[in-house]
Amino acid sequence: MNYHIVVLSGDGIGPEICEESKKVLNRVGVVFGHKFEYEPQDAGGIAIDKFDNPLPDHTLKACQASQAVLKAPMGGPKWDKIENKKRPEAGILGLRKGLDLYANLRPVKLFNALKEASTLKTEVIDGVDMLIVRELISGIYFGEPRGIHGEGKDRYGVNTEIYRTPEVERIVKLACELARLRRKKVTSVDKFNVLESSRLWHDVAEEVSKGYPDVAFEHQIVDNAAMQLILRPKQFDVLVTTNMFGDILSDEASMLTGSLGMLPSASLGGKVGLYEPSHGSAPDIAGTGKANPLAMILSIGMMLKYSFHLQKESDAVEGAVEKVLERGLRTADLAKKGEKTVSCSQMGDAICAEIN
Ligand code: IPM
Ligand code: MN
Repeated sequence: MNYHIVVLSGDGIGPEICEESKKVLNRVGVVFGHKFEYEPQDAGGIAIDKFDNPLPDHTLKACQASQAVLKAPMGGPKWDKIENKKRPEAGILGLRKGLDLYANLRPVKLFNALKEASTLKTEVIDGVDMLIVRELISGIYFGEPRGIHGEGKDRYGVNTEIYRTPEVERIVKLACELARLRRKKVTSVDKFNVLESSRLWHDVAEEVSKGYPDVAFEHQIVDNAAMQLILRPKQFDVLVTTNMFGDILSDEASMLTGSLGMLPSASLGGKVGLYEPSHGSAPDIAGTGKANPLAMILSIGMMLKYSFHLQKESDAVEGAVEKVLERGLRTADLAKKGEKTVSCSQMGDAICAEIN
């Protein structure tokens, strides 16, 4: 089969980890007999430099016409002074909205070999395997009104957290469906005791959960959830939450796996899925070979599974990651003090060698 993928190689370490990810995908192609075609397009900082727009129309159209989008991290200090509407982040949000990607799946799974890379005690994190399902195109990231108004001391900033019933229904349904393929437990996270948008989330989530009697359903308030994530992380199977809470809790949860550099993601909902690592563009280490490509490589694994329904191929990628970690290969972010490290491209090569 031929698969057409738009590649947004992003900023900072983006191009480097993108190269390794394509390398791995090509290897999958050779071993399993598929052809992956890549169409490079610009979004984020590089698109601002070239087109004065973080998400040019032609980029969005190309993504919409593709079979999947592979996206590297975007942004960096170079574009920090730009107003919010034109920042690289605005391009990312436009892409999510433009592709109707309401569900962001962030699996948080500890690889055995990395038990000691985490700052948390081994007995706390051993066996962690959860899926964070983050709502991605509503909530405070998109709510209107928004803006900065007034002058001098009267200046004020406004954002609006808003959830509509169908928006909550579809994401909680998806979380319940995904839980059925796992350990059949869903934890819905909100702040219903203070926020009306969360009260609605809470009530709708509970209603939806009644349609899944085989799935154990519970609520947690977000401050408690943040604490439970490091107190007893193994209690979580599927955690479903709002756009902003999901953003924050997924960074926190990534530390259970040893590094934010291990957290892949899939954004689903529309016709075309988008796959990206959950970490940022790390401009401070760009070009040094220190970047960890594993989150993006694991995102390739998610693409194979969710967009192309190639389960064997997806397992092969995840298995290869597991094997190289078992063999002791570590990028700088994963290494303990004094431990030998491999570069971004050596890591990519090692993964390819394990896919047979
Ligand atoms: C993420 C990132 C983005 C977000 C930024 C870069 C817009 O932090 O994907 O988690 O806040 O969603
Ligand atoms: Mn984030």
